[in-house]
Amino acid sequence: MTTPHVSLTARERLVVALDVPSAGEALALADRLAGRVGMLKVGLELFCAEGPAFVRELQARVPVFLDLKLHDIPTTVRRALDAVLKLDPKLVNVHAQGGPAMLEAAVEAVRAHRAGGGQTGLLAVTVLTSLDREALAALGHAATPEDLALAYARLAHQAGCDGVVCSAWEAAAIGEACGEGFHRLTPGIRPSGAAVQDQARVMTPAQALKQGATWLVVGRPITHAADPAAAAEAIVAEMQ
Ligand code: C5P
Repeated sequence: MTTPHVSLTARERLVVALDVPSAGEALALADRLAGRVGMLKVGLELFCAEGPAFVRELQARVPVFLDLKLHDIPTTVRRALDAVLKLDPKLVNVHAQGGPAMLEAAVEAVRAHRAGGGQTGLLAVTVLTSLDREALAALGHAATPEDLALAYARLAHQAGCDGVVCSAWEAAAIGEACGEGFHRLTPGIRPSGAAVQDQARVMTPAQALKQGATWLVVGRPITHAADPAAAAEAIVAEMQ
């Protein structure tokens, strides 16, 4: 399953992580960012706190990436996706670690949704950046995080996902292995001169685009800025 190829503007490629605890804060940010960014990323914290009705409200302002990272047996993921796809988010994701059958079930759900006029793209999370080599060894994996990410990206590609969530440092290798049409959404982006905070392997927006990233996720450099709209505009300018 590949999304129809569209050439995206820099603005459309910018995804803002709404890591805030309440609908009130999220909607206030959405009002300031509407028309300035491509998507807002809603994670587990916000979705669990505010639920589907809130996502509908948000989607009326800015397209939403529902970052729920689903991971369960194939039937459960399929049914959870069928429920979530009623919101028609722009993007949704599952864990590649769920394996081929789970990924195929997720692809089936998204295909059925699109056949009915939906627009959602499906991404797979490769390896969480919180898992270093030691943590992977404890889980029984001999591979490095980078090699495992590549293997998971291949699996997601074979299953028919539209792309992966990965570090910008892995984006080029995944593009080489799976083709440039296989989307890569990369967090850990910091505009030049910005504070790195708790991110380890960051890249600037321009560097990440050069590595082949389709979408860049930026959180705190925008959401914690005194003027989030101006911060978003500066990053769009840097991307161009
Ligand atoms: O504030 P910041 O730009 O660091 O936010 C990045 C966002 O991307 C957060 O929502 C974070 O959870 C998410 N993320 C990440 N690294 C990953 C996967 C997701 O930073 N590997």
